[in-house]
Amino acid sequence: HVEGDLDLDQTLFTEDQIRARLAELARDIERDYEGRDLLLVGVLKGAVMVMADLARSLDRHVEMDWMAVSSYGSGTSSSGVVRILKDLDTDISGRDVLIVEDIIDTGLTLSWLVANLKSRGPASVEIATLLRKPDALRMEVDVTYVGFDIPNAFVVGYGLDYAERYRNMRSIGTLAPHVYS
Ligand code: PRP
Ligand code: MN
Ligand code: MG
Repeated sequence: HVEGDLDLDQTLFTEDQIRARLAELARDIERDYEGRDLLLVGVLKGAVMVMADLARSLDRHVEMDWMAVSSYGSGTSSSGVVRILKDLDTDISGRDVLIVEDIIDTGLTLSWLVANLKSRGPASVEIATLLRKPDALRMEVDVTYVGFDIPNAFVVGYGLDYAERYRNMRSIGTLAPHVYS
């Protein structure tokens, strides 16, 4: 526990549940990309834990690169603005790219990111996300690998923050309303 039990409403996924689900996704990814080079693109900062654990679950070689984009401010809702804070180091033309995310909330970040990466001439761009919220289903974002569909609550832990806190929790939980209200 990082901040104490009072800040958390309930645990949604334990460390073990997350690890088990990522292992299932890793088997799917190994099968789908068999015989092809694969570049994982993690979206900073939320995806660091998913990236680290998913990459280590894969029984194959991958490359890893990172982008940082901004969509949220420090609060709990999307601002509608996406901009690149850190771009890829890798030229992705002709590459098979798998974007790794912690959560798709409104889908704004990923729909923008997929369009941006596709404009660079990659062989393919797919998405793996640990969590997906209901609003994301309304967006025109094709998500190939989804860990868990979750209800529309504010979740923290395992990379997910509220005002930059809680990212280093090993489990994922809902934030108690008194923390952000
Ligand atoms: C969060 C989360 C996703 C994005 C999802 O990142 O990690 O990247 O928002 O929201 P959307 O589907 O509504 O666009 P955030 O912008 O908070 O940055 P962070 O990863 O550094 O926390
Ligand atoms: Mn993020
Ligand atoms: Mg955030």
